[in-house]
Amino acid sequence: MCGIVGYIGKKEIIPILMEGLHSLEYRGYDSSGIALHKGNSLNVIKSAGKISILEEILKKKGSHSNGKNGYTHCGIGHTRWATHGEPNDINAHPHSDTDEKIAVVHNGIIRNYQEVREKLVKAGIKFLSTTDTEVIVQLIAFHLKNSNSVLESICKSVNELDGSYALAILFKDEPQKIYGIRKESPLVIGIGEKENYIASDSATVSRFVDKIIRLGDNEIVEISLEKTIFYDLVGNKIIKNPQIVIKTKDFLDKRGYKHYLAKEINEQAEVISNLLSDYLPSAEKTVNFDFLKFDKEFLKNIDRILILACGTAWHAGLVGKYVFENTASIPTEVQLASEFLNLKPLLTKNSLVIGISQSGETADTLAAVKKALSTGAAFLGITNKPDSALADLAKDKLLISKAGTEVSVAATKTFTAQMTMLYLLAIFISEHRIPSLELGKEINMLKHELRMIPRLVDQTLTRAEYYQEQVIKYADKRDFVFIGRGINFPIALEAALKLKELSYIHASGYASGEMKHGPIAVLDPNVPVVSIIVPGETYDRVLQNSLEAKSRSAPMIAVAVDGDKKVDSVFDTVLHIPSVSEIASPFLTVIPLQFLAYYIAEHLGRDVDQPRNLAKSVTVE
Ligand code: AGP
Repeated sequence: MCGIVGYIGKKEIIPILMEGLHSLEYRGYDSSGIALHKGNSLNVIKSAGKISILEEILKKKGSHSNGKNGYTHCGIGHTRWATHGEPNDINAHPHSDTDEKIAVVHNGIIRNYQEVREKLVKAGIKFLSTTDTEVIVQLIAFHLKNSNSVLESICKSVNELDGSYALAILFKDEPQKIYGIRKESPLVIGIGEKENYIASDSATVSRFVDKIIRLGDNEIVEISLEKTIFYDLVGNKIIKNPQIVIKTKDFLDKRGYKHYLAKEINEQAEVISNLLSDYLPSAEKTVNFDFLKFDKEFLKNIDRILILACGTAWHAGLVGKYVFENTASIPTEVQLASEFLNLKPLLTKNSLVIGISQSGETADTLAAVKKALSTGAAFLGITNKPDSALADLAKDKLLISKAGTEVSVAATKTFTAQMTMLYLLAIFISEHRIPSLELGKEINMLKHELRMIPRLVDQTLTRAEYYQEQVIKYADKRDFVFIGRGINFPIALEAALKLKELSYIHASGYASGEMKHGPIAVLDPNVPVVSIIVPGETYDRVLQNSLEAKSRSAPMIAVAVDGDKKVDSVFDTVLHIPSVSEIASPFLTVIPLQFLAYYIAEHLGRDVDQPRNLAKSVTVE
């Protein structure tokens, strides 16, 4: 939620800020803006809407070239996902104080902003916007009047703020400097030769430089052309050393695909294959998670697993529950992070808490994890973002960064990557316990099945066009119902979420056995039922529940394995997948359903990469 970028150097600044903003657009696209020094003043240019609108404004102003516009080479930019205040021009960042001496961009939320605002209003300060961010900049301006340095004004201000923030700040009277500070929201400094950068993620700064420094919580950075100085909250200098980042492929390159979403769906075989090559290169070997610091006795004695996550990551966790219980025989509970905040954490020192978050920044997940950890339980984080707060919280973590940056707001490849890690973790833990002979055999079988998954996923992906032909005819339907059982129940939930967020068609996922307990009442010819029906323990019952739906005149779609004649004869449309075991089937069953959501949304002309009202990381509770 919200992306921050800043640059100081000798290059044309606006192209750099715009490239940075595009790289961060996944974090929000309600409005964008930049602030730059010009002559003796601070110039702010901002607008509601996507970054392309800001670009148009800059072009019209002739502001894209430094030569013409008189800007110095120091500035900050922001792309917003609105939390406090509607997404209009005034609420867009950067925000300035009344005297326009300071400009601030902010990612995060200020919980006590109303209280601080009231205090400032009483002191005669007039506010222009309805954002929490304006409170920050006005507060800094308020303290600056009685401070010996801008650093002191920042320290005094953040001491009064309750919330999460990553800030980049420009001061009119310090034209060659950018200040940054963070608490619970990421901020990364990029170190170059006579140029420095600041941004919300390392992927953005590493577009320009390969040396980065991750700012820690409650640390301040003062960035100038030639140096970066770090301070703690009382203004003492601290030493931080840069690390080298390995440049990855440019994630903004769509590589010939029309949408990032299509590219990311199609990358799934490669992603799973890369993770398996690292951690399970051969089914004959044990899972290579030896870098985890859990001691062996703990792994043997885990009494309970609690998975905390939101949205798609929660669905991956639900799949994980089946694998942990069936493979490692450990009772596993999966909680929506936001709901866990209302529950009593029943954990012991032998419990393992797993937090799953693609972004590693989801406020609900972070709050839930912190609550769970207050019990003394052990923790493991699964995330795609090594810079994130979740990664910071977790001594032990499984990074899925090999999946590459996921640009499209709807999660696809990170879902299958999270599932891969959960399967591997279940096997890893099982291998540290002494499984019964039968369970031992099952674990070995699962390892063989996992090794086959990339090839099967690849075969499934080649069927994209066929899936497209099959699903487009349902694009005019009012609602969709997805049903599955056992390990494919979470896939029904995930399919419904994907369709909703991409196409805006209402959809629900149900455990197929629940249909007759109420949801069946919604069925009519305008409500297709999509059944996930793979051979195994659940097959007969899902088929039975599907027949019940069919007799209520619902159009019937199935995801089923090749050659399943029974399914072919019952359903109107069958989205075939290669033959697969039930336990490994979620890796395959989800793919035609991701395509279903994608092709229907595309057919309806939706903005599939940036659906309305959403952002890639959700940093508010
Ligand atoms: C996924 O398609 C969604 N956009 C959303 O549900 C997402 O999975 C959820 O917000 C959790 O995000 P996280 O993985 O970054 O924590």
